[in-house]
Amino acid sequence: MARRLKLGILISGRGSNLQALIDACADPGFPAEIALVVSNKADAKGLERAATASIPTRVIDHRGFASRTEFDSALNDALNDAAVDLVCLAGFMRLLGAEFVRAWHDRLINIHPSLLPAFRGLHTHERALEAGVKLTGCTVHFVRADVDNGPIIVQAAVPVLDTDTPDSLAARVLVAEHACYPAAVRWIAEDRVSIVDDRVVLRDGSTPEAPVFSPCVTTTRRYTP
Ligand code: GRF
Repeated sequence: MARRLKLGILISGRGSNLQALIDACADPGFPAEIALVVSNKADAKGLERAATASIPTRVIDHRGFASRTEFDSALNDALNDAAVDLVCLAGFMRLLGAEFVRAWHDRLINIHPSLLPAFRGLHTHERALEAGVKLTGCTVHFVRADVDNGPIIVQAAVPVLDTDTPDSLAARVLVAEHACYPAAVRWIAEDRVSIVDDRVVLRDGSTPEAPVFSPCVTTTRRYTP
């Protein structure tokens, strides 16, 4: 089998998206493997998930560094030491500096619980309900210097119900997240993703299967049902 893409996953908490990636990578046919999980919090539940799957972990506590640059530099060293190819932010609650983002340009992706560019930042589900949108969802995108901005790899739309609370909506969006993140990683690992004019296009002839979940809709450019 071809060499598997080495992932470095950055987390701060629960780690359910990390778990979705662990589960995907457990399939020997999946074209990526997790080389390292880094948390900036020692008590992140995601660290236990990684340990259960025998994945190396590091805790790099941001409070131990005098500046963001020094923290970012420690992260960068850990990822390079593990020979990471692609960094996946999965509920990582620290802003990364411009130098780190530049160093990992087109090798750094994030998952965000809204249909970007709507509802960048925190409290997305509360804000979606306040705005009265009828569809929300999630986005996997390459990271650029601006927060929650960058070429979109895949999105999934999730209907908003009249009865939704922020928690019920978050739970349904999370199901979509767990389908989308492994799909995006697979497409990158299979070299199907290219970036043209800072937008993602799938390479000619590529017809990636959509992540499957219900009752949601997922799209990316050139997806052929
Ligand atoms: C997810 O909703 C993700 O989209 C956002 O932070 C949350 C992390 O959840 N960036 P988990 O730690 O993956 O369970």
